[in-house]
Amino acid sequence: MKRLAVLFFCVASVSSVIGQVSYSIPEEMPKGSLVGNIAQDLGLQIKRLITGKARIYTRDSDEYVELNRDRGVLLVKERIDRETLCRQTTPCALHFQVILENPMEFYSVTVQITDINDNSPIFKKAEMNFKISESMMIGAKLVLERAVDPDVGINGVHGYELKPTDNFVLKLHNNADGNKNIEMVLQKPLDREKQEQISLVLTAVDGGEPQMSGTMQIIITVLDANDNAPVFTQPTYKATVTENSPKGTVVASVTASDADQGSNGKITYSITNAIDDDKKLFEVNKETGEVTLIGDIDFETSRNHQIHLLASDDGGLTDSCKLLIDVQDINDNNPEINIMSKTNVISEDAKVNTVVTMINIEDKDTGENGRVQCSLRESVPFALKTSTNNFFSLVTDSDLDREGASEYNITVTCSDEGLPSLSSSVTLTLQISDVNDNPPVFERSSYEAYIVENNTPGLSIFTVKATDADWNQNARVSYILEDSSVNGVPVSSYVSVSADSGVIHAVRSFDYEQIKDFKFCIKAQDGGSPPLSSNVTVKIMIQDQNDNAPQVLYPVQTGGSLVAEMVPRSADVGYLVTKVVAVDVDSGQNAWLSYKLQKATDRALFEVGLQNGEVRTIRQVTDKDAVKQRLTVIVEDNGQPSRSATVIVNVAVADSFPEVLSEFTDFTHDKEYNENLTFYLVLALAVVSFLFITCVVVIISVKIYRWRQSRILYHSNLPVIPYYPPRYSDTLGTGTLPHVYNYEVCRTTDSRKSDCKFGRAGSQNVLIMDPSSTGTMQRIQSEKSILDEPDSPLEVRNKLSFSHL
Ligand SMILES: *[C@@H]1O[C@H](CO)[C@@H](O)[C@H](O)[C@H]1NC(C)=O
Ligand SMILES: *[C@@H]1O[C@H](CO)[C@@H](O)[C@H](O)[C@H]1NC(C)=O
Repeated sequence: MKRLAVLFFCVASVSSVIGQVSYSIPEEMPKGSLVGNIAQDLGLQIKRLITGKARIYTRDSDEYVELNRDRGVLLVKERIDRETLCRQTTPCALHFQVILENPMEFYSVTVQITDINDNSPIFKKAEMNFKISESMMIGAKLVLERAVDPDVGINGVHGYELKPTDNFVLKLHNNADGNKNIEMVLQKPLDREKQEQISLVLTAVDGGEPQMSGTMQIIITVLDANDNAPVFTQPTYKATVTENSPKGTVVASVTASDADQGSNGKITYSITNAIDDDKKLFEVNKETGEVTLIGDIDFETSRNHQIHLLASDDGGLTDSCKLLIDVQDINDNNPEINIMSKTNVISEDAKVNTVVTMINIEDKDTGENGRVQCSLRESVPFALKTSTNNFFSLVTDSDLDREGASEYNITVTCSDEGLPSLSSSVTLTLQISDVNDNPPVFERSSYEAYIVENNTPGLSIFTVKATDADWNQNARVSYILEDSSVNGVPVSSYVSVSADSGVIHAVRSFDYEQIKDFKFCIKAQDGGSPPLSSNVTVKIMIQDQNDNAPQVLYPVQTGGSLVAEMVPRSADVGYLVTKVVAVDVDSGQNAWLSYKLQKATDRALFEVGLQNGEVRTIRQVTDKDAVKQRLTVIVEDNGQPSRSATVIVNVAVADSFPEVLSEFTDFTHDKEYNENLTFYLVLALAVVSFLFITCVVVIISVKIYRWRQSRILYHSNLPVIPYYPPRYSDTLGTGTLPHVYNYEVCRTTDSRKSDCKFGRAGSQNVLIMDPSSTGTMQRIQSEKSILDEPDSPLEVRNKLSFSHL
């Protein structure tokens, strides 16, 4: 087809240009290719050509086209490269002449060389390097080198393509000279941090067929710009630190990163706290971001700290973060005990659960370190009660007794539950005030005191004493004599009590013979309000004094009449003439009587029994003895000093009354008959009395004998032996004394059966022998007839002595 087109062109040229022919051939035709049939086109004969020695004339050194005379055609002699030949000039043509000789003539031939796309666009450099900052603005341009294509026209550079087009687009500017300026325009910002190097390929294409292209590498190195601020890994950091940690302890470490490079990415940490205190506590390492402690950290001052940290790069970009530091408590605070209110004195009758003291506990620590338990150290009648959180009240737990404990030192110990536990304590001193709750108490449950009769009035007898366990006024005891009567007389007329001292005074002089003992009550009362009191019974026993002389009952001393005992002249030695009977209203030794012969007509004839007062003959009566005998018997008691009485006993030694009468008429000049009668009556009475006494002695002996027998049978190992004073144990007398002593012995021994029996028997005997008791006297008389036995006095005496043994 190309060949045909060329031919057609040739024809057209021939037809329009005379003497001139032009051809058009594409470049790069192989050697020998036909350019044109010049002979034909010029209308020349091959012969002419040969003869004319037709040749090509050109000024150029190179001959691209040769003339084949034989064929009359122009052939390609040498490969024609349009680009070499004409460069960019168009149209590109070879101009030469075909010269003929004989005749000389020439023809101009123009061979136009047409371009074929045999060159691809070429960039001068295979690679273009740019170093641009990532901060380059959008729209910034980078001028690129153009590609060159030796081909012309449509085969020249036709267009460009840039790949990839992420960041840049191509922009072509048509210059006035027809060339194009290629620019690369930033349409999307660069980010070094994403892509530090961008590699682009710029492709230039021509418009030939087939299309050819050339490429160039564009390498863009993105330079860092400080477009990234440092960034903390967390907006908020949390850390804990235990309080009291030493300085230099690393609390936390913060980290920020900066995507930038170099100094743009070099981070410096600092603290930007507003609160000064925290600034003094913490420090951040400029480079590492380690936060360390530089001050004393105290949980109780602040439980947490908030630090603002700043990370900045050298370019001045910053980021901030918060560091929250929780302080962990350690048990470094003792519980504090605050006494909110307290009572120093409490009454002993305070009810259980009375609040004594209110305590508030405070422990600055938290949790278990601040949980406080309080307790009382000693066992005291108090208890601690928790009302609400950390408020304790000390209350009474049981009844108080000032008499038991008048003061308490209550130690309250509070300890927290930390490990180790810390504790503190406080001691409260509480006084117990007195309440009159104790009555006075006498030292003894009853008192017995003795006072000797005939005392001086006002004599202090003895002292009662009561003590009161209370205090002060409540313990001030006064003694009061309780009203009562003794034998119908108010007791206050007998004794008085000193209210302060309890001394009992006798108000009057006592007479044992009138009153032997009496009882009364003394009240001890304290000074409390109301007062308390207690009673005690006091028994005063009056002791006998020998203030009564013996009284002679027989023989009766009459004023006028004469009484005489008769003794027959035949009487044996030891004949019982009579018995002097005397009593003493005193008791005990004071009533123990002894009889002595004081004066006698004939001292050798009579004797008086020392204890029994029996008047006996001591020798045979002779005829020489006077009928009328006069004896003076003195009866003495055993008191100190002893008292005595004397009695005159008249004895008639005669065998018959007339004898007696004749003798005694000397004494009695008047009323002889009457006197004799009186004498006989008295004599009869004496005999009766003697018999009575004998009977009594017999009865007593029998009773004592029986009692002793029963004792032997009973045969206990009781050491109860009737006690007789040694002076009297061997006496044969029937005096009252031994019996009275028996009575005493019984009272002082144990209250056993046998003793009591004995005591009763003794007391009966005493009653019997008590001459002052009229009732007993009657009983004696009534018993007299029953007990009247014809025993001789000697036999009776033997029995008596036996019973005493
Ligand atoms: C209480 O303590 C005080 C002072 O230490 C002391 O004098 C007193 O005897 C104590 N009282 C008791 C009952 O322990
Ligand atoms: C004291 O004795 C009186 C009379 O004897 C009696 O009324 C009173 O109740 C007694 N008081 C006491 C505390 O025993």
